[in-house]
Amino acid sequence: MCGIVGYVGHRSAQDVVVEGLRRLEYRGYDSAGVALVAAGPDGAGRVEWRKRAGKLANLEKLIGEEPLPEVTIGIGHTRWATHGAPNDVNAHPHLGNRRRVAVVHNGIIENFDDLRARLEDDDHQLSSETDTEVAAHLLELQVGSGVDLTTAMQRVCQVLEGAFTLVAVDAEDPDRVVAARRNSPLVVGVGEGENFLGSDVAAFIEHTREALELGQDQVVTITRDGVAVTDFHGAPVTPKAYHVDWDLSAAEKDGHDWFMRKEIFEQPHAVADSLLGRRTRTGALQLDEMRLSDQELRDIDKIIIIAAGTSFYAGMVAKYAIEHWTRIPVEVELSSEFRYRDPILDYSTLVVAISQSGETADTLQAIRHARTQRSKVLAICNTNGSTIPRESDAVIYTHAGPEIGVASTKGFVTQLVACYLLALYLAQVKGTRYGDEIADVLHQLEAIPAHIETVLSRAEAVYELARAHVDEPTVLFLGRHAGYPVALEGALKLKELAYIHAEGFAGGELKHGPIALIDTGQPVLCVVPPRGRDQLHGKMLSAIQEVRARGARTICLAEEGDTAVAAIADTLIELPRVPVLLQPLLAVVPLQLFACELATVKGHDVDQPRNLAKSVTVE
Ligand code: F6R
Repeated sequence: MCGIVGYVGHRSAQDVVVEGLRRLEYRGYDSAGVALVAAGPDGAGRVEWRKRAGKLANLEKLIGEEPLPEVTIGIGHTRWATHGAPNDVNAHPHLGNRRRVAVVHNGIIENFDDLRARLEDDDHQLSSETDTEVAAHLLELQVGSGVDLTTAMQRVCQVLEGAFTLVAVDAEDPDRVVAARRNSPLVVGVGEGENFLGSDVAAFIEHTREALELGQDQVVTITRDGVAVTDFHGAPVTPKAYHVDWDLSAAEKDGHDWFMRKEIFEQPHAVADSLLGRRTRTGALQLDEMRLSDQELRDIDKIIIIAAGTSFYAGMVAKYAIEHWTRIPVEVELSSEFRYRDPILDYSTLVVAISQSGETADTLQAIRHARTQRSKVLAICNTNGSTIPRESDAVIYTHAGPEIGVASTKGFVTQLVACYLLALYLAQVKGTRYGDEIADVLHQLEAIPAHIETVLSRAEAVYELARAHVDEPTVLFLGRHAGYPVALEGALKLKELAYIHAEGFAGGELKHGPIALIDTGQPVLCVVPPRGRDQLHGKMLSAIQEVRARGARTICLAEEGDTAVAAIADTLIELPRVPVLLQPLLAVVPLQLFACELATVKGHDVDQPRNLAKSVTVE
């Protein structure tokens, strides 16, 4: 939520900052802006800035019309609006009265009303509706009193409440960019004779893969030759260095029209990578980053999964797998609801937090609550160095590579893989499954990338189907068991990308109300469980018959050779045969393709759907 870039070095700051913003635009695209420090005619420095509502392209057009000076220090911002409408005035950067300090900000300064009133009493003119502008004025007051920008930032942060990443430049100090973070992401990129700041590494991956992780309540100063980190009181801190193990090509579209489509097609690789190195030489399952002892895991008598959006649906699938393989009871809860219901937690409860970005504020706050109640927290996360794994007791990283499309795709399937691995690992440690049963499931998981390839090879048929549904006002999704969260996920994808009303239901729930929605021609996408010894398949067939009898058009996702479904489906999408618990890994793929294509045909920006942002860092 909001993308931030800072740069000081030897290149054109405008180029580095604008390019960084392009790579971070998925985090918010309500407005964009840059500020550079240039030498004035009399030798004194001045801040030059440009900002514009709307996407980055609008800012680039403005810079084309009103060029910026060629300098080598600057900051930039791409906004997801919280306080104040998405217009030019509220766009970042914000400046103080004297136009000496420029600031960009991600997060929410909760006490800004108070601070603003005090500043206005002292004749400060604040022109925007944002919470950010107070920080610019406060910093300017501090540097005006004679301290440097680093000290000014430390002092200002001590009076701010809430969540913030702030990045600032000072016209009279053209050699440093200063930033601070509390509950909001910021990483440092370390180069040669140049240094970078970014909300995530995508901002500078083109220039360096050496990064520094910042902790909570820290201030960082970058100059051409160095990086210095302190806490908010000025005490020096040594940041943790890490190497980013993906390169620029991972952040490019590779010939696809959208990042989302590219990421859908990357799923076979992402799943394979997330399974790599998980077996010992004897065939047992190993999870390197587990960090919880076998005894701690054996003591667990309840699991609560917390997550938001698509990650929540991955958690719903995980419940079926964990309970089936381990017999440990599992609750799944929206992270935004979790801590407000006073959940029953103790040291024998394992809280599993699922987050692709590792920065979702709702999930982070839920983790903090769980830890105050002495529960152990295990994160399932795709982003190295992000806050959620750092604040958890253990982590299982998914290896999906950077997910840039705002709608999660490969994030979801790799989260499923991590959840299955966790379930199997717990089964191994607790002895609830035999080793050969676990090895068997691992074997089936290792076959999944090839199965996803098969599903993807049939994409054209799904695209045709999507094109036939462009004018549909409502699309319904049905599923049962592990297919139910898939139905919910299919509906979410369609809502967020195609802006079509869509709802997912459990097949058995239909008759309790939702069936009243069915009318002649209503499209219903049905995720049919594989045939098995349980009665799931037959029950799902009954649900399909019920909607057909009321005039629905059924589009069924079913395993190959399912003649019973073929006989009643208006359209059939075949999936390779896998066990019911693993079917979500395949069934979700056509639903992703469907939403992506439908939104494309409708002319929507698939990677940046309206009103959304990746990485939701506000509660
Ligand atoms: C939907 C989507 C969101 C995220 C949710 C959680 O396509 O991407 O619903 O799943 O915002 O994000 P993470 O997993 O980063 O915590």
